[in-house]
Amino acid sequence: MTSLLRTARCVRPAFAARPASRITPIALRRRYASAATAAVADSGEQPYFPDEPREPIIQTSIPGPESKKAIERLGKVFDTRSLNMMADYQRSYGNYIADLDGNVLLDVYAQIASIPVGYNNASLQLAATSPEMASALINRPALGNFPQHDWAEILETGILSVAPKGLDQVFTGQSGSDANELAYKAAFMWKRQQQRGGADVDFSAEDISSAMNNQSPGAPDLSILSFTSAFHGRLFGSLSTTRSKPIHKLDIPAFDWPQAPFPALKYPLDQFAAENAAEEQRCLDETERLIKEWHAPPAAIIVEPVQSEGGDNHASPSFFRGLRALTKKHDILFIVDEVQTGVGATGKFWAHEHWNLTSPPDMVTFSKKAQTAGYYFGNNELRPNKPYRQFNTWMGDPARAILFRAIIQEIERLNLVESTAQTGDYLYNGLARLAEQYPQDIQNLRGRGQGTFIAWDSHRRDDVLRKGKGVGINIGGSGERAVRLRPMLIFQRFHADLLLERLERVFKS
Ligand SMILES: Cc1ncc(COP(=O)(O)O)c(C=O)c1O
Repeated sequence: MTSLLRTARCVRPAFAARPASRITPIALRRRYASAATAAVADSGEQPYFPDEPREPIIQTSIPGPESKKAIERLGKVFDTRSLNMMADYQRSYGNYIADLDGNVLLDVYAQIASIPVGYNNASLQLAATSPEMASALINRPALGNFPQHDWAEILETGILSVAPKGLDQVFTGQSGSDANELAYKAAFMWKRQQQRGGADVDFSAEDISSAMNNQSPGAPDLSILSFTSAFHGRLFGSLSTTRSKPIHKLDIPAFDWPQAPFPALKYPLDQFAAENAAEEQRCLDETERLIKEWHAPPAAIIVEPVQSEGGDNHASPSFFRGLRALTKKHDILFIVDEVQTGVGATGKFWAHEHWNLTSPPDMVTFSKKAQTAGYYFGNNELRPNKPYRQFNTWMGDPARAILFRAIIQEIERLNLVESTAQTGDYLYNGLARLAEQYPQDIQNLRGRGQGTFIAWDSHRRDDVLRKGKGVGINIGGSGERAVRLRPMLIFQRFHADLLLERLERVFKS
């Protein structure tokens, strides 16, 4: 607490200039201080943020008058039609997100699954205010041309220290979509290099001239295979592999790439074991048919461990092992998109660790909770044969990589992956109990044994999300009717109790 206050004071001189009526984070935290003792007493857990609010604070409807004013102002210069809630991050703390009207909500959506260790985390504030960070911010390097002297050190002690098993190199990028597109490019260059006869075989004159006309063979008829309901981003290449909702794709020219069915599992899983196994086999068979027959052969398959934006669709480890086997059999690459599942939320650092693969994926893409982005790989052949083929101005960002390193240190210091696995089991059991009482409101509960990466279907999903805010919980949806939980890794059992209690209030209403 003391160090947090000291840090907050020294990094935020601007608070002094704020209107007197606004409560500063420091004062707010003091007000919450007694919550710590209460939380410990109730659950026996040591809270990671001892001076978090004990429970949500609801003072107005949301948005309240101050938020409405701010939204109206913003709406004049920025599209606010997707706005969920106008937040005040300086007053948000730990698992709680604050608005401008004094409302403070338990946040189990966490910036679309992207806040790992709490708002205004003291350790991250220290990293953010270090001379190293200041230099990275104001002297941003074009990493491909002028990497900073300690880039290897930053990677080795950060991003690469949590690299998936078997992958020891990284190409860094800006966002999840960017990470996926970079991985696709690596896959295509690898496949063409292989078809030409290796890294030493040069491009033909026809390759070179046709590439400049966007024609084959220089711009080859190859594809990336993705799955129904998949979400891999919204940039041009990634959007062609996204299949979650038409609104993302309408009016945008797209590659004619194959789409394999993703298993539609029936719940509860133990009651439909045979049907689900048959469904997964059907999807694997169709995937193989597409690999063999699609007019533009896939250079890679991309798959999410849990299809998140597309509705929180799960498949079994054996399905993913089956995909891995197909990619090996047909000599194409296996890309696992861990943009949303990565960094601990499923109770493993990387969700694909749940699958017990016999050989690692060829590439694993990441972003969101990592706060930086990119793809991990291990095979040297995935480095293109010439410089500048995989290149852009920034090629990542040391500032964001330093932040991820601090996040990793915080995760390790507090053992947050293990804790998320345990809290997730506790939360899942609580939801299973609620599902028995409110079968209309919790259908197809999924995510058992997957940390806090839990979701269910609801016939009145949007109503539940809206009413959730009224009782102090910020929850997200996915797909057409799923309620998805994406709490931070500092979400504990006493938060789960609170969430369950508030959800029940919503279900009763
Ligand atoms: C699995 C997955 N891949 C890719 C993306 C795209 O990431 P970004 O929005 O950072 O481009 C997302 C975003 O939600 C995602 O969930």
